Amino acid sequence: MPSSKKTISLINDSLSSELSIKDASVGPSVVDLANLNKDTGLFTFDPSYSSTASCESKVTYIDGDEGILEYRGYPIEQLANKSTYLEVSYLLFNGELPKKEELSEFRHNVKHNMVLDSNLKQLFTGFLPNAHPMGMLMSSVAALSTIYHEDIDIRNPHHREAFFFNVLGKMPVLVATIFNQINGTKIGSYNEERSYAENILTLFFDGRGDYEINPVFSQALDILLVLHADHEQNCSTSSVRLTGSSGTNPYAAIAAGIAALWGPSHGGANEAVVRMLKEIGSPKNIPTYIEKAKDKSDPFKLMGFGHRVYKNFDPRATIIRGECHKVLGQLNQDNNPMFELALQLEEIALNDQYFVDRNLYPNVDFYSGVIYQAMGIPKEMFTVIFALARTVGWATHWCEMMENPALKIGRPRQLYLGSEKRDYISIDQR
Ligand code: SDX
Repeated sequence: MPSSKKTISLINDSLSSELSIKDASVGPSVVDLANLNKDTGLFTFDPSYSSTASCESKVTYIDGDEGILEYRGYPIEQLANKSTYLEVSYLLFNGELPKKEELSEFRHNVKHNMVLDSNLKQLFTGFLPNAHPMGMLMSSVAALSTIYHEDIDIRNPHHREAFFFNVLGKMPVLVATIFNQINGTKIGSYNEERSYAENILTLFFDGRGDYEINPVFSQALDILLVLHADHEQNCSTSSVRLTGSSGTNPYAAIAAGIAALWGPSHGGANEAVVRMLKEIGSPKNIPTYIEKAKDKSDPFKLMGFGHRVYKNFDPRATIIRGECHKVLGQLNQDNNPMFELALQLEEIALNDQYFVDRNLYPNVDFYSGVIYQAMGIPKEMFTVIFALARTVGWATHWCEMMENPALKIGRPRQLYLGSEKRDYISIDQR
């Protein structure tokens, strides 16, 4: 975007800097700090990047105050109700919705990559029986960098597109391999006639060839994949960008994103929510846990609540709660105890001044685990499913970043609070 005429001046003692303001197409403008340190010797200080735009991007727009999420300008509510994960993947990567023939070519390009190298399959035999699936996924995606490395020219757009389709094709097979390994079952097969979500369910559950796809499950899973596909410069996407800015192997950059997503403050929250609900156990214990969440001396947080950007409801949580009702209703589990507990916990928290004052609402992770569990997916796999969905976002952002011929390596500075200069003292003098 062109810089607007607007500037701000920043003065440090006798030094000053005229900083230009760059306007967004939608949302907040930014102050371009490129000359700040040169002009004034100052750094900015924003350790959690709460007020920092790390890049220019055209992929996703979020307005945290209004609870708005748009992929390439399309509202998430419309995409969740009318689109599919593969069509949304095309949209995120190409910037436009596909025509029929473009979508079928896109599907073929993904499908064409849904095979694992036999050596890679052996990697899985090395994991301990209790290995966490996120560790298995991170390792196996990093292992892709040992296969696809020499021939990749990251400055070549065709190579970047080949990486995009390869990682999008490999991910569901890696995830299904992990799912079947921890379950001790055989992986199912892929069929181009089915949707991406239907194929994930058959890869997971159809090892014996007798699995009946439940349309309510595949529809709910596809919506969950759409909702988790991208989310601007979140922790894991920023990890992919920062790692990728060194020019490293793109699969290694995606593995860095998986590592970041695993954390319970980020994608790991969906597994942590189910663990928390199990620990709370019954509605009568909710007040105790609400007080624990408010107690600064207690590290306990209400998992699935709060968000760095959404200071209003997370639009994805609203959609997922609706899907919960549908999936549980289909299973005649309308009074599923975990869902009931989650609904009551939400109700109580949203009427508690502590949560109201801090704009803490359910986020994307609060209800998703209830649906995955109802589908027969173990809680250790919840964040793996999140990573599966977010792969298209990570890969799109990596490609968008690498398109920039002027890309510089990300290298933040610091506020140094350590010792001033001092001389070495030999050990017998200390
Ligand atoms: C995801 O960034 C993204 O876009 C992420 C994501 C995506 O799609 O990529 O949306 C996915 O990661 C969703 C978030 C999942 N994480 C959780 O549900 C974990 C629980 N939530 C918290 O850890 C927290 O809310 C964060 C990490 C999500 C956000 O933390 P912030 O923005 O750093 O907020 P904060 O810690 O500064 O909290 C502000 C206040 C503090 O209290 P005070 O010091 O002002 O008194 O709110 C309190 C916090 O203690 N607070 C909570 C709380 N979350 C914030 N108190 C209790 N329970 C919580 N969950």
